[in-house]
Amino acid sequence: MASLKDEVLSKLGAVAAPDGRPLPATGKLSEIVAGDGKVFFSITVDAAQVRTWEHVRASAERAVRSIPGVQTVMVALTGERTGGGGAAGAPAAPTVVARSGSGAPGRPSGRGPAGHGPAGHGPAGHGPAGHGQQPAGPAGIPGVGAIIAVASGKGGVGKSTVAINLALALRDLGLKVGVLDADIYGPSLPKLLAIKERPQTSGGTRLKPIQRYGMPVMSIGFLVEEETPMIWRGPMVMSALTQMLREVEWGDLDVMVVDMPPGTGDAQLTMAQQVPLRGAVIVSTPQDLALIDARRGIAMFRRVNVPVVGIVENMSTFVCPHCGTRSDIFGHGGARHEAERLGVPFLGEVPLALDIREKSDAGLPVVASEPNGPHAQAFRAIAAAVREQLQVESRPAPKIVIEA
Ligand SMILES: Nc1ncnc2c1ncn2[C@@H]1O[C@H](COP(=O)(O)OP(=O)(O)OP(=O)(O)O)[C@@H](O)[C@H]1O
Ligand SMILES: [Mg+2]
Repeated sequence: MASLKDEVLSKLGAVAAPDGRPLPATGKLSEIVAGDGKVFFSITVDAAQVRTWEHVRASAERAVRSIPGVQTVMVALTGERTGGGGAAGAPAAPTVVARSGSGAPGRPSGRGPAGHGPAGHGPAGHGPAGHGQQPAGPAGIPGVGAIIAVASGKGGVGKSTVAINLALALRDLGLKVGVLDADIYGPSLPKLLAIKERPQTSGGTRLKPIQRYGMPVMSIGFLVEEETPMIWRGPMVMSALTQMLREVEWGDLDVMVVDMPPGTGDAQLTMAQQVPLRGAVIVSTPQDLALIDARRGIAMFRRVNVPVVGIVENMSTFVCPHCGTRSDIFGHGGARHEAERLGVPFLGEVPLALDIREKSDAGLPVVASEPNGPHAQAFRAIAAAVREQLQVESRPAPKIVIEA
């Protein structure tokens, strides 16, 4: 029996490119990821030809959707700018310009001079004090207020732990919060929240997020088996991210917390290009090496005009669970000094605590599982600082957002 991927390729053979050739013969198809009723791929064309390819993308999506048993199809059309302007180390900087799904805004590009921003969401469009206004940028996500990225230059410093607990603490401040796990290569949310179920589709192309602790949450880890090799190429990372941002029924949110993958690569640039990020929260441990990477992260967000909300020092002082002795295993206060040096707010510190790790690994983030404990308090203080920096308020009633 032919594999799903073969069936997809065979269906795509009947889809003609603008020059009449079958789509698979054009060399513009990415890796096709297919399995368990889900199919993801992208079509990468020269940025100048995007408009002539949109109907090919739509036909490709229709063709794949007609395969019996296929429930989710994600097809992204990516415009590749040739020559210059790309991220360091990347051969070019592809930008997703259209996504599958009729529910998405039909705008051909998220990068035009439209300057939509998160209009109508309280004091929107402003970065944290002192960082000026967010420049005209990509379109907002209807119904979603401030989108903040939790990021770091270095891996394993606790971004995901901070992201989920920060989200829960913001929720406890009365805000409507959603969480997007943007770590395509190493998604964390399935483990952090012990989620095994799959998102349901809604109305054909859109996905319903999973609900946990009163928050909609979404991760590529909900869609792809853990063992699936993650051979996503640059454009695939972008298409998956764009899908999760724009093709998920997030509903009305005051804040979306985005758990970023480590580093300063494609995913971060895509976020900055595709979403009107209100700001970035940088997580660092107190060591010098982590701080150097944090500095890189800050420089990257500044380069793409995303305001830095501030720095969180994670795995700060260690408090012995038995005797209460405090010791500074990785040092202490490094991130605060770094924040001062760089002129960005210091948002607070989270201790290195066995409890935090054990609860995280068990899918029970401390802010939810020990809401009155000292660790939850640390995250609550950070959430209060983030809210102050962003001036995010809860919005009383759902509003109708009209997309131009
Ligand atoms: N304050 C803390 N105290 C104890 N353990 C922690 C703390 N913060 C994070 N951890 C643990 O450290 C490990 C890495 O944390 P986490 O996955 O949040 O990091 P990350 O920066 O998101 O990693 P990656 O770069 O791989 O995405 C996890 O096992 C987590 O439970
Ligand atoms: Mg992580």
